[in-house]
Amino acid sequence: MKNMGKDKLKRFAEVETFKNVVQPTMDEIKDGYALKGKWSKEFFGNENPIILELGCGKGEYTVGLARRYKEYNFIGVDIKGSRIWRGAKTCIEEGIENAAFVRSKVDFIEKIFGKDEVAEIWLTFSDPQPKRPRKRLTSPLFIARYRQLLRKGGIINIKTDSDLLFEYTMEQIEEHNYQKHLESWDVYGELLQSTTDDVAFKMNIRTFYEQKWLDQGIKTKYCQFGID
Ligand SMILES: C[S@@+](CC[C@H](N)C(=O)[O-])C[C@H]1O[C@@H](n2cnc3c(N)ncnc32)[C@H](O)[C@@H]1O
Repeated sequence: MKNMGKDKLKRFAEVETFKNVVQPTMDEIKDGYALKGKWSKEFFGNENPIILELGCGKGEYTVGLARRYKEYNFIGVDIKGSRIWRGAKTCIEEGIENAAFVRSKVDFIEKIFGKDEVAEIWLTFSDPQPKRPRKRLTSPLFIARYRQLLRKGGIINIKTDSDLLFEYTMEQIEEHNYQKHLESWDVYGELLQSTTDDVAFKMNIRTFYEQKWLDQGIKTKYCQFGID
């Protein structure tokens, strides 16, 4: 903590007080978190389906989708509290009540969410993990975790700058016979020319990392698939 900036420390302290941020300890999740299987009812106070953004960073998708799709509950998951702070603060400022954040490693996701609890997953500009394929968020290890919580017909969305991660994901889809619903290697140059308003709205949400890559001329890739 010695070299941590003042702003970051302030955010860490503030995020502790946010009602829309949950920071479970290892002890609390090891045998299954108390809210596992009960997020909608006990946390949001409704019966709406849950959509997750994994590795959400500042949570642009969690916030952007929650603003428009009130009939869903959105939860962003990231290990970095100072990034989550941004999304959580925006929700508080705007009175967005169908979004929350969980500070955890994605690796423990099946301890936090229950069977069939999740309708959709967004992987937004995930680390490509060039040297550690098992750690990629579309590796068989992670897909097996998603299978524990994603309901039948559930959807996984991946939006990425990385050719490596995108190509790897396409190979996984082929190899395991997942159902590919949409694929684009150039979202803004191609997909947006011929898609629905709904997809266009979703694609036009730009994340912090996405903007960094777009500024460098790197194309955004997107795929939507199922794992039933
Ligand atoms: C490249 S950033 C993308 C952040 C954000 N989605 C965006 O597009 O701006 C990757 C994010 O994933 C988080 N992350 C990476 N591996 C993770 C893991 N295993 N569990 C939780 N968060 C992870 C990092 O903390 C970081 O915020």
